[in-house]
Amino acid sequence: MELFSSRIFFFILFIATSCSSEYTRPGPRHLVFRKNDRSDSEPQQVHISLAGQDHIRVSWVTSDKNVQSIVEYGKTSGKYDASATGESISYRYLFYKSGENHHVKIGPLESNTTYYYKCGGSGPEFSFRTPPVAFPIEFAVAGDLGQTEWTQSTLTHIGSMDYDVLLLPGDLSYADFQQPLWDSFGRLVEPYASARPWMVTEGNHDIEKMPIIYPHGFKAYNARWPMPYQESGSASNLYYSFDVVGVHIIMLGSYTDFDANSDQYKWLQNDLASIDRAKTPWVFALIHAPWYNTNLAHRGEGENMRQALEQILYKARVDVVFTGHVHAYERFTRVYDNNVDHCAPIHVTIGDGGNKEGLARMFNIPSPSISLYREPSFGHGRLRVFNSTHAHWSWHRNNDNDTVIADEIWLKSLSSTTMCK
Ligand SMILES: [Fe+2]
Repeated sequence: MELFSSRIFFFILFIATSCSSEYTRPGPRHLVFRKNDRSDSEPQQVHISLAGQDHIRVSWVTSDKNVQSIVEYGKTSGKYDASATGESISYRYLFYKSGENHHVKIGPLESNTTYYYKCGGSGPEFSFRTPPVAFPIEFAVAGDLGQTEWTQSTLTHIGSMDYDVLLLPGDLSYADFQQPLWDSFGRLVEPYASARPWMVTEGNHDIEKMPIIYPHGFKAYNARWPMPYQESGSASNLYYSFDVVGVHIIMLGSYTDFDANSDQYKWLQNDLASIDRAKTPWVFALIHAPWYNTNLAHRGEGENMRQALEQILYKARVDVVFTGHVHAYERFTRVYDNNVDHCAPIHVTIGDGGNKEGLARMFNIPSPSISLYREPSFGHGRLRVFNSTHAHWSWHRNNDNDTVIADEIWLKSLSSTTMCK
């Protein structure tokens, strides 16, 4: 009888963790370490981010400390009729000394335009395309990336389809104190992150706190991945917001204070109050640790933050909250305070970018009614905002060499939903 019960249990478990019966999930894959193949003065780890109205921040690393923080750019390959200078910083972490991290803000730039650029006066030419001036706009969304062969697969899928801006809800390199892995991650993502703006917020693997010597953490993260926090009135690189083509995006920090007396809370209140829905009819938020999660991994870790901030996001009619941390995909219905609410955000966990820890395979049973789709597979998401009222969300599972749409849904903006105004 006992044997029979345990077989029933494992059978139920198997069904519960396999939303897609025809797909056999592969296991974890190896770490990918990208070595530097450029000279000391040439740029490596090049990536770009949006930096206020019509501006882009170009970031890169050189081993040579004497390279100038200058970006030359123009609309024709090899012909640079504009240039801008910025600043650089390096940091020490135990016995590791970083290269020079250069950050240069360029612009004003024209929308939907390809720019060619060179960093620090030498090395290869790069190019990027600026976001469009009006809808539609397409976001790629990938969390908990890391640097494994699965990460490479996710990046290949991301690069195989066009997009305008990438959103990453935390856990970038999984360096986990081994600083050369930050450099390797920068090289791995360069082909993608140098061509489209990558907008990130921090995860727990980005903290790298050490008692007494590094009590505040985020030493590498802040030095390498500065985001436009000053442009959005924030005092910290750990939370900020930006507008792009009718969309207001709020990047929140799970690993800095968020209680009602915190700077983040006060900043968020002001930020939400300043949203003009005529200008940005859509509002999305990104957070690392999910507020809603039916996976057995990381249960309840976002609960304090949910209790502190959910009400103000709800009242501001945030359309979707994207999270990471849990290495699986899960999509909830519109939910507020654990109940279905048609004027609340949809919550999506997309922590399945491909990191070294593998998948979070176990979900609780039975699935609560607020969870509409859940699956432990690697992949990434696509958010195509067509106009002020309609957007399409799809989750693309990495199925070896193909990208397979496993989940999709049409969204209607809350600002256009009469009962939610
Ligand atoms: Fe995490």
